[in-house]
Amino acid sequence: MNNNAETLLKVEHLCQYFGANRAVDDVSFEIKKGEVFGLVGESGCGKTTTGRSIIKLYDITSGNIFFKGIRIGAGIRSYQEEIENAKKNYKEKSANASPEESARMKKELDALIAARKEDIKKARFDQKNCDKEYAKKLVAEVKAKYEKLLANATPEVKKEYKDALRKAKKAKLATQIQMIFQDPIASLDPRMTVREIIAEGLIIRGERDQKVIDEKVYQMLELVGLVREHAGRYPHEFSGGQRQRIGVARAIIMNPELIIADEPVSALDVSIQAQVINLLGDLRHDLGLTILFIAHDLSVVKYFSDRIGVMYFGKMVELATSDELFKNPLHPYTKSLLSAIPLPDPIYEKKRKRIQYNRLAEHDYSVDKPTFREITPGHFVECNDAEYAKYESMVE
Ligand SMILES: Nc1ncnc2c1ncn2[C@@H]1O[C@H](COP(=O)(O)OP(=O)(O)OP(=O)(O)O)[C@@H](O)[C@H]1O
Ligand SMILES: [Mg+2]
Repeated sequence: MNNNAETLLKVEHLCQYFGANRAVDDVSFEIKKGEVFGLVGESGCGKTTTGRSIIKLYDITSGNIFFKGIRIGAGIRSYQEEIENAKKNYKEKSANASPEESARMKKELDALIAARKEDIKKARFDQKNCDKEYAKKLVAEVKAKYEKLLANATPEVKKEYKDALRKAKKAKLATQIQMIFQDPIASLDPRMTVREIIAEGLIIRGERDQKVIDEKVYQMLELVGLVREHAGRYPHEFSGGQRQRIGVARAIIMNPELIIADEPVSALDVSIQAQVINLLGDLRHDLGLTILFIAHDLSVVKYFSDRIGVMYFGKMVELATSDELFKNPLHPYTKSLLSAIPLPDPIYEKKRKRIQYNRLAEHDYSVDKPTFREITPGHFVECNDAEYAKYESMVE
């Protein structure tokens, strides 16, 4: 991975709540172009929710998501809370203040409310309109490109212009992020042929030429190790590994820059897991893909990921390069995940002890509250002041 590479995806204080369930709670991370970022944690910790928030299946609760520097997701809860808290604070403090002091506080309050309301307005606008704004930009680019050519254009060029314009108008930033879904059976419509499944995104994007569509579908099938004869069949006629490959083909036909692979191998036999991982590895190199790779155990992501983020109950508790995380795990939850990895070494296996993680017993967060902090360059851990001091001494 190139450290100077551009940041493709930036997730900033992401919160996704379902009622009282804080499925994702203040998670931040960045993915550089060309990088494979592994996201691990036990069942229910919020990995899929993080992925689904990034592809805009939800209006996120709080935080920001930027893709290529453009804000594609923006929540408003934190702004609303700031307004509520400021109002409460004003009520309490102004009761005992002098009239002048009270007037000054009111002015401050009004300014804060106006600023946060502006933030809310902007967030709502970006959440809703980022695709439109992006399409506008592309349309302008197409028009600029064809402006001179159109003056004495042949019918072919005119048609080319029309096609390009139609596609630009329908362009969506979000289609550059594609998700391979966790469950390869439930995520493929059983009534659609493989051809229809794989081509769906292209058609939505405005492609109409059946020949072009067919060629693209065949190309994708071959790219993922299937054959063109498979195009006319239905999902139930395939094995689990093959279905996962169909999911991969459906994602890459859109020529995405970022793939979110949500436990792409968990449902598969061990022998087929390696095949699908190798396929993703090949595609990464051949197509220059950036991948957010979600898994629930560390052994799967170890060799494949440049960096790894560890989630626990909606929080990111540790983030580092793969090498660093395996060499110097700091958070007790990461250590517990590492202790669960079996090794093909009978002597080690006899001695291997599973470390259990018990959050309440492990940390005292009653007064000294934890935040996500950088211990050594690029190695982040959730910790409070006391733990920070301890971790710092551990890595020296
Ligand atoms: N649409 C939803 N509505 C309400 N709650 C949800 C929804 N989606 C997820 N949750 C809850 O959010 C939490 C996180 O779920 P999520 O699917 O993100 O976990 P996960 O880390 O992907 O787990 P797994 O490894 O089992 O796939 C869980 O408590 C889940 O019950
Ligand atoms: Mg999941």
